[in-house]
Amino acid sequence: MKHDLVIIGGGPGGYPAAIRAAQLGLNAACIEKENQLGGTCVRVGCIPSKALLESSEKLVETQHDLKAHGIKVNGVSVDLTQMMKRKDGIVKALTGGVDFLFKKNKVTRYKGTGRIVGPGRVVVESEGTEPQEIEAENILIATGSKTAQLKGVVPDGDRIGTSTDALSYPEVPKHLVVIGAGYIGLELGSVWKRLGAQVTVLEYLPRILPGMDSETADEAFKIFQKQGLKFQLGAKVLGARVEGARVEGARVEGAECIVEVEGAEPIRCDRVLLSVGRVPNTDGLGLETVGVQLDERGRITVDEKFQTSAPNIYAIGDVIVGPMLAHKASEEGVACVEHLVTGYGHVNYDTIPGIVYTQPEIATVGKSEEQLKDAGIEYRKGVFPFQANGRARALNQTEGRVKILADAATDRILGVHIIGPRAGDLIAEAVAAMEFGASSEDIARTVHAHPTLSEALHEAALAVDSRALHI
Ligand code: NAI
Repeated sequence: MKHDLVIIGGGPGGYPAAIRAAQLGLNAACIEKENQLGGTCVRVGCIPSKALLESSEKLVETQHDLKAHGIKVNGVSVDLTQMMKRKDGIVKALTGGVDFLFKKNKVTRYKGTGRIVGPGRVVVESEGTEPQEIEAENILIATGSKTAQLKGVVPDGDRIGTSTDALSYPEVPKHLVVIGAGYIGLELGSVWKRLGAQVTVLEYLPRILPGMDSETADEAFKIFQKQGLKFQLGAKVLGARVEGARVEGARVEGAECIVEVEGAEPIRCDRVLLSVGRVPNTDGLGLETVGVQLDERGRITVDEKFQTSAPNIYAIGDVIVGPMLAHKASEEGVACVEHLVTGYGHVNYDTIPGIVYTQPEIATVGKSEEQLKDAGIEYRKGVFPFQANGRARALNQTEGRVKILADAATDRILGVHIIGPRAGDLIAEAVAAMEFGASSEDIARTVHAHPTLSEALHEAALAVDSRALHI
C-alpha cells in the first residue's frame, strides 16, 4: 500500500486534514487505533461532555428556573441511564459521520496503532491481525494528548479516574472531588453538581482557570460558588487512595476515597476526577527511527509549515506547541495539508477562541488584561453587563458581562472576554472582527439586531469610547 499522505490519528486534527488532502487530490490515508473515528473530542471529550452539560442544565432549569417563568413542575427526577444513552447516541452519530465523510472523500482508513519504522514507512498494528506496512510519501502526526498524571493519584479504573470515566459514572456520586480547576474540572464538576453530587474542586494555584483574563475568571469563580461548587484554592494534593477493597471487580458498599491535601484535613469522597492538564501522545510512535525532535515539555517541534525535524514528517494539534483545543488542531491540520499541496496555509494564533461550557459560558479571544500590562501595551476597556441587555432579561440569564480591550492608540481590538449566556456563540463575532483587524469603533458602528444577546458586544464596543447607551 502506498499513499501520498498518511495521517496518524483520526481526531479533530487528523480527520479534517485527511478530508482536505483528499479534496486537494492527494491519495490520503488515516490510521486510528480506536474503532470510532473522531478522537478524544468526539468520543470522550468535547461532544459527550457537551451532551451531559446540556442535559444537566435542563434539569437545573426545570427544577429551579422555570418557576420564574410562571411554570410549575412537580416530581422532577433524573433517569441517568437515559441521559447516558442520549449522550452515547450523539457520539455514535458523529463518529459514524466521520466514517461517512472518509468514504465520501475516498480517504483510506486503517484500523490499528500506527508506528513510524523509517523514512516513508509506517506499520499498522492491531490485536488479532498481522502488522501491515504502508508506504507514505508524507506522514502527518496528529495523535493528540492524554490525561496528565499526578504523583500519588493513581487512577484505579473505578473510583479515581479521568474525564473519560467522569462521562460515564454509573450513578451520581455523593461527593466528587475534582483535582484541577481548569476546563475539564469546571465543566464536568458542573455536570455532577447539577445532577446532585456535592462537588469539591481542589486547585493548586490561588485562582481558577489560569491563563484566562483574571477579572473574568474571578467573576466566574463567584458565580460557581453561588451555584454550590466548593473550592479549595492553593491546595497541594499529596495523594488519593481508595479504602474498601473490591471483590472481583464489584464495588464494595461504603468504599471511599481519601484525598490528602497538604496542611489540611484529608477529604473523604466517593469519586475523584483528575483533571490537571493533558500531555502529548508521542510514546510508541517510532519518532526516534526518523529523528523527530521534541522540546523540553515533550512536544514535537515544528516550523511554520508544521514540518518536524525529519523530512516529510509533519505534526499538528495537541502534540505541538499551543492550546490543546479541537479547533486549533483542525485549523492546523488543514493549513499543514494546504502548505504541502499549494505552498500556502495559514493559522492566525492571535484569534483562537477558548470556551468553557459552564453555565454561564465563558469565552475569550486574544489578549487578557494581564498579558497587555505585562507587554506594556496601553489599552482602553469597554465593559457591558448582561443585566442591562433586554434579551438576557427575557431569558432570565443576566449574569456576566462582555469586556472588550482595544489598543489605546489605534483602537484595534486586542482581546474580548465574555462571561454570560451563549458566550461561546457570541465570541464568533469578536473572532471574525479581530481576524479582519477591526477596531472597537467598527463593532460600535455595526448594526446589531434587537433584541439579541449580541447587543451586549455592541454596547461593550461603545463603552470603549465611554458612550454605551444602556448603562
Ligand atoms: P487545564 O490546563 O485547563 O486545567 C488544569 C488545572 O489543574 C489548572 O487550573 C492547574 O492549575 C491545575 N493543576 C495543575 N496541577 C495541579 C495539582 N497538582 N493540584 C491541583 N491542581 C492542579 O487542564 P484540563 O482541565 O485537564 O483540560 C485539559 C485540556 O483539555 C486543556 O488544555 C483544555 O484546553 C482542553 N479542554 C478544552 C475544553 C473546551 O474547549 N471547552 C474542555 C475540556 C478540555
